[in-house]
Amino acid sequence: MSHAITMLTGDRPTGPLHLGHYAGSLIERLRMQEREARRFIMIADAQAYTDNIGDTSKVAEAIPAVVADYIAAGIDPARNTIFLQSAVPELVELMQIFMNVTTLARLERNPTVRDEIKQRGFEKSIPSGFACYPIAQAADILGFRATHVPVGTDQLPMIELASETAARINRMAGRDVLTVPEVVLTTTGKLPGIDGRAKASKSLNNAIFLSDEVAEVKQKVMMMFTDPGHIKVSDPGKVEGNVVFSYLDAFDPDKEKVEGLKDRYRNGGLGDVTIKKELIAVLERLLQPMRERRLDPAAGKDVCLDILRQGTLEAREVVSEVLADVRRALGMFTL
Ligand code: TRP
Repeated sequence: MSHAITMLTGDRPTGPLHLGHYAGSLIERLRMQEREARRFIMIADAQAYTDNIGDTSKVAEAIPAVVADYIAAGIDPARNTIFLQSAVPELVELMQIFMNVTTLARLERNPTVRDEIKQRGFEKSIPSGFACYPIAQAADILGFRATHVPVGTDQLPMIELASETAARINRMAGRDVLTVPEVVLTTTGKLPGIDGRAKASKSLNNAIFLSDEVAEVKQKVMMMFTDPGHIKVSDPGKVEGNVVFSYLDAFDPDKEKVEGLKDRYRNGGLGDVTIKKELIAVLERLLQPMRERRLDPAAGKDVCLDILRQGTLEAREVVSEVLADVRRALGMFTL
C-alpha cells in the first residue's frame, strides 16, 4: 500500500529522552499521529555507536528505555512502526551506495557534525564511521521514501544532505527512484539546558527527563538560570536568555498568559519563584499523564523489545524493496 505521506524520524539511544526531545520532535510526531500517514520511528543505535563504541552497555540499556519513553509520551505502537536501525542491514547497503555520491568535502562542511567533533575532541582523529553518519542518516530517510522528517533545527544539515543525495541518484537513474524529503520543523526551536547553555542534553547534565519524578522536576526548575541582574522582585528583569521563559514559551499552551508574565517581569514586580512555580505547574500538566501511561519497568522491557522486533521486520521489508529498486535504477550488477 502506498501512502501520500510517510514520516520517518529517530533518536540516538544514549540515555532517557528529555524535554528537548519532546519540544524538538516528539510534539510533531504526536501531531503526525493524527494524520493519514505511514509512520516510522527509528532507534538509531548504529548512529549512537559512531561515538560510543567504547560504551556499548550505555546504548544497550537506552534502547528499551527510549521505547518506554515513546509510549509514555503518547506514541502509539499500533500507529507507528518502531524499529532498531542496526537490525536493518539493508540500510548499510544503501549507505554504501550513497557514499559514492558524497564527497569528503561535503561531509566536512556539515555544521552540526563540526560542533560534535569539537564537543567530543575528535579534531585530530575523526573516526570515519562518525564522519559518515550523515550518509547513514540519508539512507535512513531515503530507504523509506520518507516525505516528512520531523526534527529539531540541528538536524537540518542532515536532511539537506539526504535531499541532495536523492536528487543526485534520481538524476543518474533518469527517474524518481527516491523521494526528496521535507523537513517538519517544530515552532519551538532548540530548547536550552536548565543552566542556560544552548542545548539541553544528558551529557551536559542540564536536562529535565520525561521520566523525572515530581520532586526532581521541582528541584531542576528551582535551579534554572534566569536573569542574574534580577535581584529584587521589584527590579526589571530580562526575558531573553531567561530559561524559565524559554520553557514557558515551549510548553505553556496559554500564549497570552505567558506574554502577560513577560510584560510584568520586564517591568519589575514579578519574582523568579513565582514564574518558576508557574512553570512547575505547566510541566506537571505535561508529565503527569506520561507517568500514568508509563509501562511498569520490570515487565515493560519485554514489551518494548517485542515492539522493536515486530517493527524491524516491517522496516526491513520496506527498505529491501527500495534498495533493490535503487540497484536496478543505477544498473548495478546483481548475481
Ligand atoms: N541524528 C538524529 C539525532 O541525533 C537521529 C537520527 C538518526 C535521525 N537517523 C535519523 C533523525 C533519521 C531523523 C531521521 O537526533
